[in-house]
Amino acid sequence: MSQDPLVVFTPSGKRGRFPVGTPVLTAARKLGVDLDSVCGGRGICSKCQVAPSFGEFSKHGLTSREEALSDWNRVEARYDEKRGLKPGRRLGCQAEIRGDVVIDVPPESQVHRQIVRKAASARAIPMDPATRLYYVEVAEPDMHEPSGDLQRLETALRREWGIERLEADLSVMAGLQPTLRKGGWKVTAALYRDHAGGAHKLTALFPGFHEAGLYGLAIDLGSTTIAAHLTDLDTGAVIASSGLMNPQIRFGEDLMSRVSYAMMNPGGDQEMTRAVREAIDRLAVEIAGEAGIDPAHILELTFVCNPVMHHLLLGLDPVELGQAPFALATSESARLTARDLDLGQLRDAARVYVLPCIAGHVGADAAAVALSEEPGKSEDLVLMVDVGTNAEILLGDTSRVLACSSPTGPAFEGAQISSGQRAAPGAIEAIRIDPETKEPRFRVIGCELWSDEPGFLDEVGASGITGICGSGIIEAVAELRIAGLMDPSGLIGSAEQTGSARCVPEGRTHEYLIWDASAEGGPRITVTQGDIRAIQLAKSALYAGARLLMDERGVEKVDRVVLAGAFGAHISPRHAMVLGMIPDVPLDKVTSAGNAAGTGARIALCNIARRAEIERMVREITKVETAIEPRFQEHFVAANAIPHKTDAFPELSRLVTLPQVSFGAGADREGGRRRRRRG
Ligand code: FES
Repeated sequence: MSQDPLVVFTPSGKRGRFPVGTPVLTAARKLGVDLDSVCGGRGICSKCQVAPSFGEFSKHGLTSREEALSDWNRVEARYDEKRGLKPGRRLGCQAEIRGDVVIDVPPESQVHRQIVRKAASARAIPMDPATRLYYVEVAEPDMHEPSGDLQRLETALRREWGIERLEADLSVMAGLQPTLRKGGWKVTAALYRDHAGGAHKLTALFPGFHEAGLYGLAIDLGSTTIAAHLTDLDTGAVIASSGLMNPQIRFGEDLMSRVSYAMMNPGGDQEMTRAVREAIDRLAVEIAGEAGIDPAHILELTFVCNPVMHHLLLGLDPVELGQAPFALATSESARLTARDLDLGQLRDAARVYVLPCIAGHVGADAAAVALSEEPGKSEDLVLMVDVGTNAEILLGDTSRVLACSSPTGPAFEGAQISSGQRAAPGAIEAIRIDPETKEPRFRVIGCELWSDEPGFLDEVGASGITGICGSGIIEAVAELRIAGLMDPSGLIGSAEQTGSARCVPEGRTHEYLIWDASAEGGPRITVTQGDIRAIQLAKSALYAGARLLMDERGVEKVDRVVLAGAFGAHISPRHAMVLGMIPDVPLDKVTSAGNAAGTGARIALCNIARRAEIERMVREITKVETAIEPRFQEHFVAANAIPHKTDAFPELSRLVTLPQVSFGAGADREGGRRRRRRG
């Protein structure tokens, strides 16, 4: 008795025997091969494309001949004529098995195709979004068997896709009947399924086969900016990224001032909620316009944000977050609709997922960093730092992950710095001070040349040098220390003490002059003693937070440091180490993760299982509260010196020798005793 033909699918290697005449898609489904289909085998969607391979396959023990699949049928010919099939491709739902065959499933035909992430982490995310499209043909109404249109749609989804429970949003119900009739009873349903299970929710219905695809928005809602990535929910590709300033800035620059605004002004929280929601709505339309897609095809949104932004987005009063014990209204993830957030430009039923917060000061943005960078899967002990107005810090490896937030204040962003400014063209972003001559040279954003290179001034123009941004001030302070112009306590020496005329008196202290265009009406850019104090407070808070987590973990050193966020991407690890912002590790063990929070939002958008994973991860993270921990204060004071009063920095000493200078008996009189408020 002859055996049924043997079918081998690659790359999975899944194999089985099937009777002659079995469609390839049916064989794939029976074997659990990852082969996509939206139209249910009707030859409309082309998602099921496969590439048969022919020849002798000794590794599979078969010979695959051309006649192993049925000839092209009318459906394939029509599809090829209208849209074109790549050479060698067949529609899996149309091609039938006739003999032994090897069939390759190309990446774009796999349901759970992998999106390859940037090389730095090089981990792939399998596509498995919460919302998917299903094409169905619905029975027409029949007077003899009365039933609702929704019920017949439900029956079709059950019959063709095995979907058992369906719930329809009221807004979709309103369009159900006209859509069914417009599509001639052929429709594409967008169904959302929660990662915790339950019914499928009908979030949109399109007449006929919906070819325009589905999109999602991954939104990183920061206190200063709102960044959105428009993502194709089929391929995972980011098709447009855009951002705008958070309009809440008009209610207060930093988070604490926004909490205060809510405290002082009845209804102030609602005002801020309205402002941010309107901005997100506008951003969604703008980004869709940029990409040339209809905003009505955006059916998923994910949000990452700090706890205060989280509350203000959801319309929760943030007042409790402004005072100990910093209680969140909820730390759980939120699953909502666009209507709940008043996003009127999107479909009412579009789904929103807000990542969970870790604690009252460690938000969903830190959770997103954990999702993206996976400290809990690291074999070595990794410290992850996301620096903003608060530094959110994670420390962990496979055994345990700890998290805390440290009130660094806005100095690292160039705020509260005399010549400070946001990172924008004209801002000094990098600086070097010659240890011999004590002369500075620098680079500004928007110009590739260093200030001592020919043509620099022509390229920027004197007025093109406007201030110092966060990465610039960190380098400036570290360079002052390396050049011996500032002592370990942070005191700038006088011209006599340092031998540099650039150290000029400023009241009872000194400042270092970087650039003076005041004669031409331009800026005079200096690093003042006050600037250094502000940076010392910020870096001490960051280091103390890291040390507190290390204490909690019982370790004296970490194996590597990951800097997340835009700030992390621009900061020089060497200068950060000289400053003592981060614990001492070999320099090549300090890496930047880029916008890890944004990446986390994208992961949650593309893969439903990762939503469950971050919720579990957040529950398991050990939360450490810096505000109530006395050791934080001790670490804070000791970290005030540059790089540190007591901790050794052996790796740093291998790279630079810091001059032993001292510029005053009362050098450490301020000693970092002040404690910054949260912000
Ligand atoms: Fe849609 Fe084959 S399953 S074309």
